[in-house]
Amino acid sequence: MTIDPRTLPKAELHIHIEGTFEPAQIFQFAQRNNVKLAYPNVAALEEAYKFTDLQSFLNLYYAAMAALRTERDFEELTIAYLQRAKAQGVRHAEIFFDPQAHLERGLSFDTVINGLWAALQRSSGEFGITTALIMCFLRDQPESSAMQTLELALPHRDKIIGVGLDSAELGNPPSKFQAVFDRARAAGFLTVAHAGEEGPPEYVWQALELLKVSRVDHGVRSMEDPLLVKHLAQTQIPLTVCPLSNVRLRVVDRMADHPLKRMMEAGLCCTVNSDDPAYFGGYVADNFSAVQQGLQLTGDDLMQLARNSFTSSFIDDLSKQHYLDEIDGVAAPT
Ligand code: ADE
Ligand code: ZN
Repeated sequence: MTIDPRTLPKAELHIHIEGTFEPAQIFQFAQRNNVKLAYPNVAALEEAYKFTDLQSFLNLYYAAMAALRTERDFEELTIAYLQRAKAQGVRHAEIFFDPQAHLERGLSFDTVINGLWAALQRSSGEFGITTALIMCFLRDQPESSAMQTLELALPHRDKIIGVGLDSAELGNPPSKFQAVFDRARAAGFLTVAHAGEEGPPEYVWQALELLKVSRVDHGVRSMEDPLLVKHLAQTQIPLTVCPLSNVRLRVVDRMADHPLKRMMEAGLCCTVNSDDPAYFGGYVADNFSAVQQGLQLTGDDLMQLARNSFTSSFIDDLSKQHYLDEIDGVAAPT
């Protein structure tokens, strides 16, 4: 069966809204906000997209955020993502944002959330995409900063479904954030965390046991620990895998070396996602195409990944069934 990755209905569960900031839009917003960038033009900026590891990417990712200043910027950024996501077959998106990266530049929490929220309220009507927001804490900042950010988010509890953990992983284990995650869960937030991207399997164990995450973001290094693989297979805790990101950030050398296929064969609940598509050369359907080609995944494999994206999402059971039926329709003979 041939499956077209672009028309396959899917949920995107690992997407940083700031990672959808395309070079042309960075310059457009910088100009209208009178922000001076370190690069003279789009071509020079793109020339810098040659990453050697996670930190080399994060340096550029945070620098580009200087161009985001107003509610309108966050709304337009999100609308542009939703437009592209629609063209990639996305029906539901659970979107990360990094408030601390904006607060430290002098923006208010309300500027960020109001801009994002204005776009998300238009999403289902204009793009046919339902959405949820996940607020990530920056793990290279102290836990006290995460705690203050959580306090700022409490008045917006109705707009934010969960909290996550991102930024520089090595040296910043999940254990550092146990108290703030405890408090977030007590306030009713679901939890997820980046773990096992560059960090060791021990960080995945900590995310599960200390932060009590519903999903692990990336988790590819789990494959180095047979006991962890067994545990993840038994519990079916989903892993939001980002193949193009892993190649571009040198977690793996080539797509052919990516562990996704082995993870699926080991019985893990994997999903495919785009992470920071403006930086890594493709949106979510492009990630499906890349693993289809690089790992020789079959049509059935792609359908399984699409099914997993909905069953792993935070939508209700009725909506999950609706999307699973839609996927079955793709497979049905015409
Ligand atoms: N922030 C944005 N993208 C990220 C990634 N791939 N890992 C950690 N933090 C991030
Ligand atoms: Zn990520």
